[in-house]
Amino acid sequence: MNLCVLCGSKNLTSEINNHVTPTSTKLPKFVQLKSTIMPVLSQKGQNMPASPIRKLVPYADQAKKKGVKVYHLNIGQPDIKTPENVLKAIKNIDLDLIAYSPSQGYESYRKKLAGYYQQNNIDITADDIIVTTGGSEALAMAIGSIADPGDEIIIPEPFYANYNGFAKQNAVNVVPIHSSIDENFALPPITEFEKLITPKTRAILYSNPGNPTGYVYSKDEIAQLRDIALKHDIFIIADEVYREFVYDGGQHHSILHQDGMDNHAIIIDSVSKRYSMCGARIGTLISKNKDLMQAAIKFAQARLSPPTLGQIASEAAVDTPQSYFDDVITEYKNRRDTLVEKLNEIDGIKVAEPKGAFYVIAELPIDNAEKFAQWLLEEFNDQNETVMVAPAAGFYSTAGQGTKQIRIAYVLNQKDLIRASELLKKAVAAYPHTEKKPTSFANKKI
Ligand SMILES: Cc1ncc(COP(=O)(O)O)c(C=O)c1O
Repeated sequence: MNLCVLCGSKNLTSEINNHVTPTSTKLPKFVQLKSTIMPVLSQKGQNMPASPIRKLVPYADQAKKKGVKVYHLNIGQPDIKTPENVLKAIKNIDLDLIAYSPSQGYESYRKKLAGYYQQNNIDITADDIIVTTGGSEALAMAIGSIADPGDEIIIPEPFYANYNGFAKQNAVNVVPIHSSIDENFALPPITEFEKLITPKTRAILYSNPGNPTGYVYSKDEIAQLRDIALKHDIFIIADEVYREFVYDGGQHHSILHQDGMDNHAIIIDSVSKRYSMCGARIGTLISKNKDLMQAAIKFAQARLSPPTLGQIASEAAVDTPQSYFDDVITEYKNRRDTLVEKLNEIDGIKVAEPKGAFYVIAELPIDNAEKFAQWLLEEFNDQNETVMVAPAAGFYSTAGQGTKQIRIAYVLNQKDLIRASELLKKAVAAYPHTEKKPTSFANKKI
């Protein structure tokens, strides 16, 4: 904050006028300078999109200050306990010095990780892995390694909103391709991708299972993406951070399950969701393309090292027993079932059928989801409780798309999820801009 150096007032402009008139020339120069000059910010900095998930946080904080309990359906922070073997490894850390690790990540960790991928039929070695600061840094490094300013990356929308940020950081243009709630956000026809490919296209990027859609691409859909990548000699960046979270007996298909993708596939991965370890800040960039890895390692060297302590915890995480995942997947599946059932009790709602991850997109019979989400925090209240949701428009890059949709993360226990759904139902009924007529879509049970 600028303070007037003469009298300490916060209202710099009026104080300067007071002091300045009529003897402005006698004022110390720095007083005048302070009020008039401002270094210029970059266009990139100014255009960086705000997170659609976090921008309502001040309203939630305000509600909490007033004593209102807020059920958070807005953010994908798992509430399930981190595996015991990881917590034990953290407690047993006995270091005299927390040093940098190698830029590519500890070899012992990369070797163990290679074993994890081999178990998932993904044929990679420790050399094909760069350990990163979360999947987030892997995404930024991947885009930075393959695309120049003005290049294009095609992404089925709605998509994980931070893809916009990583593209902007690299001055790369996102080219959205629309996937529809009526198709549960299945892969758009491959002919639609063909129409968007230009000489500037460097990659197709998707998350599978999908955040925010919960859609899980089939083997055939992944094969179609492989074919188009090879035909046009572009990369596929497959964000597979939710690999384990697939329900109803479905199977996850990795881009590296496809033949012929060694030079064209980049996998983004992370321990954040897999082991409820968001704060460890460990992810991976994976590719068998040696040139790409040589470029990416230079980004890795420039930032010196991925987190040392996070790698110790993540290395231990590779030993997590299958029973942990069996329990966690059952818990998420039950939550999904409960949530979808409850949401479908809301008049006029349309719910996309989620088959993986822990998100669901719902379209509400309201005028605008952003206004609604804010209203939930500022005005709605049932027995001193309300819910926070993520308006889905921020997950689209086409203006005007998803304006009536919200994303819900089912990272609350079943009891809280039921209460949060009840609150949502009451809120939709009470909201002044709810379409009162029956809408064209029927409540769909999954
Ligand atoms: C699809 C997807 N990719 C990547 C990330 C980045 O996660 P992290 O940086 O914690 O690994 C997230 C986080 O929510 C995500 O949902």
